[in-house]
Amino acid sequence: MSETRMLLCALLLVTLTCGGVAVPDDGPADRHRLMERKLVAAQKILTNLAREDYAAMQSAADDLQELARQQWTTDESPRYRAHLKDFWVTLDGVSEAAAEKNLDGATLAYVQMTISCVKCHKYLRQPAE
Ligand code: HEC
Repeated sequence: MSETRMLLCALLLVTLTCGGVAVPDDGPADRHRLMERKLVAAQKILTNLAREDYAAMQSAADDLQELARQQWTTDESPRYRAHLKDFWVTLDGVSEAAAEKNLDGATLAYVQMTISCVKCHKYLRQPAE
């Protein structure tokens, strides 16, 4: 098993086990669907890393970037904005590496993106200061 493949398997596990975020579900139903689409698009990147399908990888990253430009919360704190921008940058990283057919670069950017998902949710779960 190659290192990249092992990393992908580990990430898949993280993605599957960390799906639930304890954010109060008081938003409109379409926001919930938006979150589901976010998850599906992120998983599509992983699928296409495993397949080395760069076109599909880039299009999944671009779809996710489009979702990432939408408003998900009323939280407009500087910290939330910082997490959001970090997410955008990591998605650009996936898209650019896919365009260059750079598998290691895209894998690294995917890892950074995953960290950014987790960091933002972790921040959101903290009790308000
Ligand atoms: C900048 C912050 C931020 C980033 C980055 C982020 N999310 Fe979220 N996420 C949110 C917010 C805000 C909510 C709650 C939205 C709501 O009110 O329903 C949420 C909720 C979710 C939910 C619904 C959770 C539940 O309990 O129903 C999923 C699934 C999800 N995000 C997946 C992801 C994935 C996958 C990524 C990375 C590819 C990601 N998110 C990145 C802010 C973020």
